[in-house]
Amino acid sequence: MKSANTEHKDLLQWVDDMARMCKPDSVYWCDGSKEEYDSLMAGMVASGSALPLKKRPNSFLFRSQPSDVARVEDRTYISTKEQSQAGPTNNWVETEELKGIMRGLYDGCMKGRTMYVIPFSMGPIGSPIAKIGIEITDSPYVVCNMHIMTRVGTKVLQQLGSDGEFVPCLHSVGAPLEKGEKDVPWPCAPMDRKYISHFPDENLIWSYGSGYGGNALLGKKCLALRIASAMARREGWMAEHMLILRLTSPAGRQYHIAAAFPSASGKTNLAMIQPTVEGWKAECIGDDIAWMKVRPDGRLHAINPEAGFFGVAPGTSYSSNPAAMDTIKENCIFTNCGLTDDGDIWWEGMTKEPPAHTIDWRAQDWTPESKDPTAHPNARFTAPARQCPIISPDWEKLEGVPIDIFIFGGRRASTVPLVHEAFSWEHGVFMGATASSETTAANIGSIGDVRRDPFAMKPFCGYHMGDYFQHWLDMGKRLGDKAPRIFYTNWFRKTADGRWLWPGFGDNSRVLKWMCERVDGKAGAQETAIGYMPSAEDLDLAGFDVPAEDIKELLRIDVDAWKEEVKDMEKHFAQFGDRLPQVLAEELKALAKRLGS
Ligand code: OXD
Ligand code: MN
Repeated sequence: MKSANTEHKDLLQWVDDMARMCKPDSVYWCDGSKEEYDSLMAGMVASGSALPLKKRPNSFLFRSQPSDVARVEDRTYISTKEQSQAGPTNNWVETEELKGIMRGLYDGCMKGRTMYVIPFSMGPIGSPIAKIGIEITDSPYVVCNMHIMTRVGTKVLQQLGSDGEFVPCLHSVGAPLEKGEKDVPWPCAPMDRKYISHFPDENLIWSYGSGYGGNALLGKKCLALRIASAMARREGWMAEHMLILRLTSPAGRQYHIAAAFPSASGKTNLAMIQPTVEGWKAECIGDDIAWMKVRPDGRLHAINPEAGFFGVAPGTSYSSNPAAMDTIKENCIFTNCGLTDDGDIWWEGMTKEPPAHTIDWRAQDWTPESKDPTAHPNARFTAPARQCPIISPDWEKLEGVPIDIFIFGGRRASTVPLVHEAFSWEHGVFMGATASSETTAANIGSIGDVRRDPFAMKPFCGYHMGDYFQHWLDMGKRLGDKAPRIFYTNWFRKTADGRWLWPGFGDNSRVLKWMCERVDGKAGAQETAIGYMPSAEDLDLAGFDVPAEDIKELLRIDVDAWKEEVKDMEKHFAQFGDRLPQVLAEELKALAKRLGS
């Protein structure tokens, strides 16, 4: 669809205004069809930015500019009238000031390019939990990714009608072309001219200068988390950085789990878990984001607002995540992976034996002796969710699925045990609010530092984090005894000499089974200083060959280390000032007391 197929006056006006500012050579309205995808992809193959993969039907490899490889938290803004609305965990510039800077950048930024208008739905079209966005972009790579990651096209415009609500999302790679200038394979702007800006008071997103992932596919982190979290607070629902999965017991009882872990910490693997516990079955509903509303039955129901997986590639293999490997056999986009000599992609950890030679993500020759990896650590696959062999038949259910269990967690080499359960909703909110993890390659910055990442939302909460904690407490009040139970896990604990204690992956089902049995009042637990915990006997360890001492270590509370945690939590809470809910300050005091500090 080249021209607009809508009578929505505000939308037409907005697109017109943006075209006048960005000055593209032409404007193209996306219809979401396969023909559209194929022709955009063919154009990118012809220009040299996409490489068709001989080994994977309808799949393509892209290599980004080496400075544009991950989300840029330092260049991401929550812009409101007052800084206090954004809070201490967000970068802030006053709205008119930021818009002024960005208008200067957007002026003429699409010269020599096409402006694509992408109508998209976050969530199944027609779901009472879904929202509509319109992304304007000058990147055909973004259009193709949006085709996979969201529901795109004419059907969305029909749902929007002539006066429906939509979130305007403006994106430019920030690389205008002079007449006759040849394009580069991955256009983008230098770091100090990248801006990923959110205006939550107006439900507006302006992104400039990056073509990568969450910086550019604006439905994902920008709309579905930062803008949606602010909307959710105003409207009384929840937008969370959570996978959604369904477990079915041998007796046929279904449990729905939503779990929040920081970026690149195994969410996709857990979302597609293949349980090793006898008779238990898992289905995937989503791997990154959950939107949840209280439905007429009084329970919290979740949908996955996305339609695809934008998964971290390195480490994904038939042993770590066979369902993901089967999902990515065809119709996928790969970014910053290695290219094998027979025309396939490869990344570190995909197979035990590396190929003898590849072309790496920087387009250089690579062999196993090379000092750098062939795939960038934040290399990604973009894959349609419907191709996942264990996608739930209910993954597009309009009213969502009822959540029984919330899990928080992170990567911690020490201190945090395998699993503990909250004493109450308030204690669970405290566990979420103090969640911590070692940083990963999903953001540009240092890797491996421990940071507090409340609810895995530090980079994604679109308003003051203290108010967000209060919103969680308010939701608990509303849900009462229908609230999900809350647990905290750490799959990443190591011995002093750096050996992983827990095998993870399918064996995480042993911990999930314990949680389900806790919900049903069937599994035992000890009351400890940090929460309820299983003993080895409470976990189903049948056929499991991890030594008993390792299980003991995984479930050990190191009281001295926890006393240090408390000190760090105090510092963490101090930044929220009087916006920290009193209940959470009391939970921290109670923890300190239980530890004997
Ligand atoms: C992601 C992230 O891409 O969290 O999901 O960075
Ligand atoms: Mn994520």
